[in-house]
Amino acid sequence: MTRRVRITDVSPRDGLQNEPTPVATADKVRLVRAVMAAGVDEVEVSSFVSPRWVPQLGDAAEVFAALAQGGAAGVAGEGGVVLSALVPNERGLESALEVNRRAGFALIGKVSVFTAASETFAQRNTNGSIAQTLERFVGVIGRAKGAGLAVRGYVSCAIACPYEGDIEPGRVADVCARLARLGVDELDLGDTIGVAEPRGVLALIEAVGRSVPPELGGGGVGGGGRRGLTLHLHDTFGRAGACVTAALSAGVRSFDGAVGGLGGCPYASVGGRRAPGNIDTRALVAAVRAAGYDTGVDGAGLAAAAAVAQSLGVGHGGR
Ligand code: HMG
Ligand code: MG
Repeated sequence: MTRRVRITDVSPRDGLQNEPTPVATADKVRLVRAVMAAGVDEVEVSSFVSPRWVPQLGDAAEVFAALAQGGAAGVAGEGGVVLSALVPNERGLESALEVNRRAGFALIGKVSVFTAASETFAQRNTNGSIAQTLERFVGVIGRAKGAGLAVRGYVSCAIACPYEGDIEPGRVADVCARLARLGVDELDLGDTIGVAEPRGVLALIEAVGRSVPPELGGGGVGGGGRRGLTLHLHDTFGRAGACVTAALSAGVRSFDGAVGGLGGCPYASVGGRRAPGNIDTRALVAAVRAAGYDTGVDGAGLAAAAAVAQSLGVGHGGR
């Protein structure tokens, strides 16, 4: 069985989308470069969403333009870090494709569509029902794949919703199956408000595993683990590391984290309580290693990236 675990750092996107104070484009670029240098497999750089909805990431095209100046080395092709961005609709995809046209190479290797297992959250976050968000994705997925980009499909509220409370694993599995039929290359299950416990994670993985094809984590653990399935944990109660351990035992081989524990969806901040940060990539890598698995991440590089995150003066102060 493979011992290699894939690490995606989402700090420049999830980490900075909820900041009350704007972060300068040059600082975002500094953070992306530092995280890339740490040896993660993928960096989620920004979002091509409506700047009315998430003004903090309104400079996505500028961030990518600055990254393009470094050339294709280290990002595109064999062994390079995958750079990705969120796109909610065809307008967002068009912006991502324009970045690649201007760069002259596939700077953005993957786009991520996002929906939820909760109707209320889908409305609050994307102004549409779950079905409406999926309809928007039809054209996005077809065009993205036609242009050679991989497509990730996020399902938020995979454990609980900030408005509806606990979410049954069957509801998540149903949305995953619908995304699978639309042709996403991978699925990412988001514990948006960071309330997961290991037992709930195991139930979730089992339910999703029953409803999607093997290339998206379906079936049993198998020799290579559950390819195509990622877990995206926020960490409100310090349990995310234990959830990583549980997910590894159930065959998950891909996780998201954010250096410095930055992160949180603006539309998951409820009743004056700010949405929790993602699991710190350092804690994530430590949990993966402690369970006997490997990552390509270099500890010193990660510490340097965390220092850059800290120098931005943002986030949750360590979680
Ligand atoms: P809408 O208002 O229904 O969209 O929003 P619309 O089509 O009516 O357009 C409204 C305005 O936005 C128009 O501009 C459009 O041009 C513009 P106006 O004419 O008013 O000046 N617009 C855009 N501009 C730039 N790029 C675009 C775009 N689309 C429309 N792509 C929409 C619908 C989905 C666009 C909106 O709700 C939105 O942008 N939502 C994004 C919310 C978001 O980014 N949330 C955080 C990410 S999800 C997350 O954090 C969870 C995750 O981490 C996993 C987890 O933890 O669970 C992934
Ligand atoms: Mg998130």
